[in-house]
Amino acid sequence: MRIARTVAEVRAALAELRAQSRSVGLVPTMGALHQGHLSLVRAARAACDAVVATIFVNPTQFGPNEDFSKYPRTFQADCALLEAEGVDLLFAPEPAEMYPEGSGTVIEVEGISDRLDGQSRPGHFRGVATVVAKLFNIVAPIKAFFGQKDAAQVAILRRMVRDLNFPLEIVVCPIVRDPDGLALSSRNRYLSPEDRQSALVLHRTLHRIEARAAAGEVDSSALLDAGLAVLAEEPDVRLDYLRVVDPDTLEDRADVRQGALVAVAAWVGPARLIDNLLLPPHP
Ligand code: PAJ
Repeated sequence: MRIARTVAEVRAALAELRAQSRSVGLVPTMGALHQGHLSLVRAARAACDAVVATIFVNPTQFGPNEDFSKYPRTFQADCALLEAEGVDLLFAPEPAEMYPEGSGTVIEVEGISDRLDGQSRPGHFRGVATVVAKLFNIVAPIKAFFGQKDAAQVAILRRMVRDLNFPLEIVVCPIVRDPDGLALSSRNRYLSPEDRQSALVLHRTLHRIEARAAAGEVDSSALLDAGLAVLAEEPDVRLDYLRVVDPDTLEDRADVRQGALVAVAAWVGPARLIDNLLLPPHP
């Protein structure tokens, strides 16, 4: 696996890959890799001739009081995992390479970036959209792979690709969970064993809502009440939001007849965790 630290190095390596007429798939990450990230790499491997992964803890998507400086950084272990998955090229720039002095252009996906995490984390999705647009321009993949775990991120990036005519396809991969249901996340490293146990309530909440919907409940407020009753079992878990929304616009949905995204975010100990579930349209 080649490791590029600069845009010029990526472009040189890609020119060689493309000379072998290899289609390129892109897997953007912030590192601290786990099986969720690796599932994206495997999907890219299966769909494209060459896989480019990126590791960049993007400062512009963290708020001033968030965990940018203590976000887990495990570069050597990450490289070994990516190498074992057959990644061709890893791009791991420093912030100054991605945002040279005087950088002032941003991508604002309006009308959607202030919902869900965007409401609790102002400016977060501007940072995500800007860095992902830059990675698309640097790597020029035919497909880019993202996890359903970050459902709002997926909605915003799909909108950006459509609005700005990026010539690529966004591929969304299912949420990878631990056997007990906890969605894998780099931030799970912040959890004590007790926190981790409490965090399972997020999955139980979504599971209860799924069961009620499968039993025929279509009213979103009834479904949310059922979920909130489960969340109340863990008073240490501080809810940020639990919502039933349209998966494309992230607007609240009053009922789930046409399907819906159920999204939850909560603080568990020192970690802010998110999880979600897609309800299928009612038959
Ligand atoms: P990061 O949190 O490192 O996640 C990188 C990719 O892995 C995202 O597409 C995310 O949805 C996916 N992912 C994380 N946990 C997953 C899980 N349990 N199952 C499936 N996929 C999972 O998301 C980001 O980084 C950043 O915002 C980024 C897109 C790299 C821009 O900086």
